[in-house]
Amino acid sequence: GGSTLASDTPPPHRSDSRFVRACLRQQVDRTPVWFLRQAGRYMPEYMAVRRHHSLLEICRTPEIAAEVTITAAERLGVDAAIIFADLLLPFTPMGLDFEFVNGEGPVVHQPVRTREQIAALRTDGAGELEYVAQAIATVAKHFAAPRADGDRLGIIGFCGAPFTLASYMIEGGSSRNYIETKKLMYTDRDAWTMLCDKLVTVLTEYAAQQVRAGADVLQVFDSWAGALSVEDYREYVLPATTQLVQSIKALGVPVIYFGVDTASLLSTMRETGADVLGLDWRVPLDEGWRLAGKSIAVQGNLDPITLFAPQEILHARVKSVLDAAGNRPGHIFNLGHGIVPGTPVENVIAVGQWVRELSARSGAA
Ligand code: CP3
Repeated sequence: GGSTLASDTPPPHRSDSRFVRACLRQQVDRTPVWFLRQAGRYMPEYMAVRRHHSLLEICRTPEIAAEVTITAAERLGVDAAIIFADLLLPFTPMGLDFEFVNGEGPVVHQPVRTREQIAALRTDGAGELEYVAQAIATVAKHFAAPRADGDRLGIIGFCGAPFTLASYMIEGGSSRNYIETKKLMYTDRDAWTMLCDKLVTVLTEYAAQQVRAGADVLQVFDSWAGALSVEDYREYVLPATTQLVQSIKALGVPVIYFGVDTASLLSTMRETGADVLGLDWRVPLDEGWRLAGKSIAVQGNLDPITLFAPQEILHARVKSVLDAAGNRPGHIFNLGHGIVPGTPVENVIAVGQWVRELSARSGAA
């Protein structure tokens, strides 16, 4: 690492970015906008790269990952670039093999289900993930200069949250009911805690690499937390997640904490101390913000499938989200979940344009 900062001194927040300012609930000239899964299979430029490389090859080759990240952000004209990577990458240095099977998503061939298997997971290999930091460094360098409007693009690093990552490890892939994951939580609390602690150790180091490389903000994906009752979330998930969020905040960057179907969990998720909560589209943004509390920023929350609607309807929905956010600082426009394959690119671009136009604060400098 080439950082000259003492490791215990958080770097100052980079306030030359409206995206970072909004994460910190500071005044902005307009609402910043980016899109979950903005680099993905809906985009012809991504598919052109994807024809020659597997998903993991793209993730593990910093030049290609950086190119894919930059191309998507520039094509859409958004205010932040999320590094192209995947939630499951940390499994490899922990000693767990996985692959992406076309049309099926991630597959872990030997799921982790026993205390012995959890004990065998390694926590000393995060250094093997440096390729992600290298990609971030390239993206940060590319976007170092301010754009025409004087604003610098925000660089988003990310990692999974303990529950969502553990669910992939334990179920062996995507899941509907999380039976094995919940069985482990309920039947062997110590083993569950050991697994979450190991994940926090690896993820904290992984996040630190990303921050040293130039990530302005870290997003923690707890995509499937909505499968939990409030009671189980509090009992089995909140402690390790809070530890992860606090460790990342101690690196000196704001943290966005995101999950889907979380309306009932928002006030508890807030207890992690995250700076921003991601909202999905099932909760009206104003109601979600009320539940999350006024002392936190929110990101969201257009239904990604609205991007398939005629533009009049799409425009009305974009306006509804912005109206629900009102003028209070601390809103980042996004979708409630990721862009899906088949989404018309021109509609994604149009949404970005409408957010810029509709949210411009009159009289702002
Ligand atoms: O611009 C971006 O946001 C792309 C970067 C990105 C990817 N994965 C690349 C990817 C990000 C932020 C992720 C995070 C991720 N990965 C999440 C959390 C986000 C969310 O959607 O809740 C999750 C749950 C995963 C695990 C994962 N990876 C799944 C479930 C799948 C299959 C889903 C599908 O759409 O097929 C993946 C594959 C994946 N990761 C793709 C991309 C672009 C699509 C497959 C491909 O290109 O071959």
